[in-house]
Amino acid sequence: MQNLVILGATGSIGTNTLDVVARHPDKYEIHCLVAQKNDALLFEQCMQFNPPFVWLEDLASAKRLIDNLASVNLTSQVLTNYDDLLSVISDSRVTTVVSAMVGAKGLLPTLSAIQSGKKVLLANKESLVTAGQLFMDAVEKSKATLIPLDSEHSAIFQCLPKGLVTDDIGLSKLILTASGGPFRTMSIEQMREVTAAQAVNHPNWSMGPKISVDSATMMNKGLELIEAHWLFGVPADRIDIVVHPESIVHSMVQYTDGSTLAHLGDHDMRCPISVGLSWPERISSGVNDLDLVTLGKLHFETADESRFRNLRLAREACEAGQSAAAILNAANEVAVEAFLKEQIGFLSIADINEQVLQTMPLEDLDSIGAVIEVDSRARHMAAKLIGQEGR
Ligand SMILES: NC(=O)c1ccc[n+]([C@@H]2O[C@H](COP(=O)([O-])OP(=O)(O)OC[C@H]3O[C@@H](n4cnc5c(N)ncnc54)[C@H](OP(=O)(O)O)[C@@H]3O)[C@@H](O)[C@H]2O)c1
Repeated sequence: MQNLVILGATGSIGTNTLDVVARHPDKYEIHCLVAQKNDALLFEQCMQFNPPFVWLEDLASAKRLIDNLASVNLTSQVLTNYDDLLSVISDSRVTTVVSAMVGAKGLLPTLSAIQSGKKVLLANKESLVTAGQLFMDAVEKSKATLIPLDSEHSAIFQCLPKGLVTDDIGLSKLILTASGGPFRTMSIEQMREVTAAQAVNHPNWSMGPKISVDSATMMNKGLELIEAHWLFGVPADRIDIVVHPESIVHSMVQYTDGSTLAHLGDHDMRCPISVGLSWPERISSGVNDLDLVTLGKLHFETADESRFRNLRLAREACEAGQSAAAILNAANEVAVEAFLKEQIGFLSIADINEQVLQTMPLEDLDSIGAVIEVDSRARHMAAKLIGQEGR
């Protein structure tokens, strides 16, 4: 029996995880559900899974949840203190932590899970992008099991022997596929006018607002490139990005003998989540079988780094090292939030990212404190640029 903490239980990954968990009550139970403020959905989840603990960041939401749970005599203990969150994650009864908060705030709880040697199912790519080397060092030291949930990285994980790149496997390159997002065929002029509502309307995937905007700017693929670099230990110049609008081939691994192994599946996150939960076994996930005959054709295109500048920025940041990646990620989080609040236009996201990346000095990040410090300075600079743009 795996005992789970789900960081980001009310989000797109969190709810998909609970959907899979509910199909296998003999294999998985919930120890703690974690969210920011969505007490209404947490209440429903408590009714279904009755976890011993729930953690919420927002105090007013926590108060409402306590009252609602008491009214139906549910005993889940509602926690709000940050130290309590870290204690719950490292509790010896917990086997598995699903890291699915959005943004770099996922870093510390995910690291806590890693440091306590848990099996960590990683959706929160921002934590790995921000602290790559330190994060992977912590995995090595604690012998935690790290399994990616991002569909592309799960695909690569499944196409590699034992999910690992080692000197003797004859790896040529990793190929990340990208849907191209909702603006794949738009000119730069057309992109200038797009709204937040259009940007969050992804053609294939149903996801939270931040990653949906990242998909529209293709920063998501850039972050995934950095994530793949750290997860699999492959340099950026051996990670290609190919646009594949149908999102059926989730990524590929090319070997020196001319073989290319691909992972195919419907675009439904319950597939990589099930892989992560049950690996190396397989469990049913509720995802439909793929019908290739009905699909008929699959298409592949070159990724256009001139229209989607974030792709180029992410590749450059990956090559420039840890602090560049942390700076880019932080600037991007602030810029995306400003775009969602209609404070800046769509193309300004890449403008802000580029300016912050070009302006901030790069440095060695030898501790998590240093990562947090750089992240905070980059956020400050991005916010300042956004303020100037708004005037
Ligand atoms: N969605 C996908 O298909 C997908 C695919 C691959 C990777 N990912 C990655 O998975 C992560 C989550 O994405 P998502 O689409 O599931 O996001 P989402 O739908 O926006 O959900 C975010 C979750 O994080 C919680 N959260 C936010 N801030 C928090 C805080 N300070 N403390 C505790 N919980 C907090 C939210 O709680 P509230 O609901 O209370 O605000 C919510 O449960 C991201 O890193 C994304 O890049 C997502």
